[in-house]
Amino acid sequence: MGASTARLTRSRLLIAFTAVIAAALVAWFLAVPDEAEAEPAYLDPSLPVAERVADLLGRMTIEEKVGQMAQAQIPAVEDDPGAVGDFGLGSLLSGGSEALHDTPEEWAAMIDGYQREALDTRLGIPMVYGIDAVHGNASLPGATIFPHNIGLGAAADPDLAERAAAITAIETRAAGIRWTFAPCLCVARDSRWGRTYESFGEDPALATAMADDVVRGYQGEDLSLNTSVLATAKHYVGDGGTAYGSSTTGSYTIDQGVTELSEEELRRLHLEPFRAAVEAGVGSVMASFSSTDLGDGPLKVHADGHLLTTVLKEELGFEGFVVSDWAAIYQISDDYSTAVREAVNAGIDMVMVPDEYEAFISQLLEEVDAGRVSEDRIDDAVSRILTQKFELGLFEHPFADTSLAAEVGSAEHRAVAREAAAASQVLLRNENALLPLSGEESIYVAGSGADALGRQLGGWSGTWQGSVDAVNEGTTILEGIGEVAPEAAVQYSPTASEPLDGHDVGIVAVAENPYAEGVGDVGPGNAHDMKLSEQDAEAVERVCGAMDCVVIVVSGRPVELEGHLDGVDALVAAWLPGSEGAGVADPLFGHVPYTGTLPVSWPGLVADEPVNVGDADYDPLFAYGFGLRT
Ligand code: GLC
Repeated sequence: MGASTARLTRSRLLIAFTAVIAAALVAWFLAVPDEAEAEPAYLDPSLPVAERVADLLGRMTIEEKVGQMAQAQIPAVEDDPGAVGDFGLGSLLSGGSEALHDTPEEWAAMIDGYQREALDTRLGIPMVYGIDAVHGNASLPGATIFPHNIGLGAAADPDLAERAAAITAIETRAAGIRWTFAPCLCVARDSRWGRTYESFGEDPALATAMADDVVRGYQGEDLSLNTSVLATAKHYVGDGGTAYGSSTTGSYTIDQGVTELSEEELRRLHLEPFRAAVEAGVGSVMASFSSTDLGDGPLKVHADGHLLTTVLKEELGFEGFVVSDWAAIYQISDDYSTAVREAVNAGIDMVMVPDEYEAFISQLLEEVDAGRVSEDRIDDAVSRILTQKFELGLFEHPFADTSLAAEVGSAEHRAVAREAAAASQVLLRNENALLPLSGEESIYVAGSGADALGRQLGGWSGTWQGSVDAVNEGTTILEGIGEVAPEAAVQYSPTASEPLDGHDVGIVAVAENPYAEGVGDVGPGNAHDMKLSEQDAEAVERVCGAMDCVVIVVSGRPVELEGHLDGVDALVAAWLPGSEGAGVADPLFGHVPYTGTLPVSWPGLVADEPVNVGDADYDPLFAYGFGLRT
């Protein structure tokens, strides 16, 4: 080959080689997606949630998965917010409806701060914040507070209960909170239980009838809307059926005790409300502290794979996630490894630790590493959690939307709470048709419940146990009387110590002091005994001995009235009516009729409990379902 030919050949080879390299580079460039544009599938909102969950799960380490199963309370992370991201915590909560902040905006700012920590992680999985907005978002002092469930049970109006839940959802979401631990679908079978007022009553059919509407009220048609929150059907299962004296928790006598029923009776009395909630699409279920005893001795529900997995998830088809109750897994065993393993293997998907989240995470990782908890179980739990987070729209909108904050405590919302309070009133006696009053009488008002908002609200109101000096805003029964009957001449004397002469009628509002959970259990040495205080008993005797009188009972459950009814012309069960005291006054003065009926049997004596319709020797002072109309 001559020199010129060789040079020509070499240049042609060089051109060809360059062309090949160029083509290869172009092909490579086209094949490898631009990281900036090709989002991972789990971040693509156009994809089905199941696909997004599967894609995300496939990217997660076991540490990231287990972190999603841990829920911590604010005090456990407030000194180290970075822990939320360091441990990839799936959820945070405030216990007890504590009013940590005064406004929706302040709540939202706090939650968003923790959310930024959660998002500042390898996969940026948002956390979900939960609270006990169980009768309104009582963690907000200005929120609308509805009657507790026992009053809604007395109203027996599922549509009204749905409207109350929908308003609660709006006032909870406006504070940046996406999840409420409500409704309680407990069936209260012994009113000595401190959580009786959290139930719709003793009848499973009533709780079942309420479940669907209330879940839909909270969750709406689309969980991602700023009018929806994730709901929680609680406490699964049988929490209201525990036997008196079976609790081993502190001074509790009933709460967290043992439900000593056969599985058939447990299903008949306590399971149906959860079936209805599952069919309504409830996104979470909270396990009960209590135990069952299906014949082999007491077993904590938190460790009961038959109830949590076979019945709830397989038979009822529950596809949401099961959250534990507050530190409840510690009650399973003194051995923490056993407690963690048995809870997760039984079907608990998220553990409300709520403090030692690091210990929980490392223990569960150890159980997985040792093969005592399978990765399939972890994947199932995390898939359930992530599914609800995608449905909530947390990946697209992880931060608070406070655009509806102005609706918190609005006149429109309070009007519904007033309607609910009025509908929950049960007229138990009305001698000589004393009620309704005309509103032009001279009225003597007495009793510890007349001008005490905290007693109207009960527990879970700004503080866990509630407080006589209420954290929340509202109008008392006395203020409601003034509003509804402005022409009436009203003299108020809480202990009826003022002179009694010269009045047409007396109204004595007797009351329980607020309580929550087992603190309200009746028992030796316990503060709450389902009886009138001495002051209230004296006020009834003095006022009703001097004039026509109405006794109004402000309580979370029936109270012992035998021996106190002489001379009482009219008797009303007001339950825990919430922030709108005018709702108690409305039927009193005929602005609306009395329509409420007893959601629980009313015993003559506390010692007669448990008293339930259907008992062989059923002999209550007032029967389940009783209520006079006007
Ligand atoms: C409580 C209650 C439960 C509540 C949870 C978080 O112990 O049992 O109803 O949702 O802890 O406050």
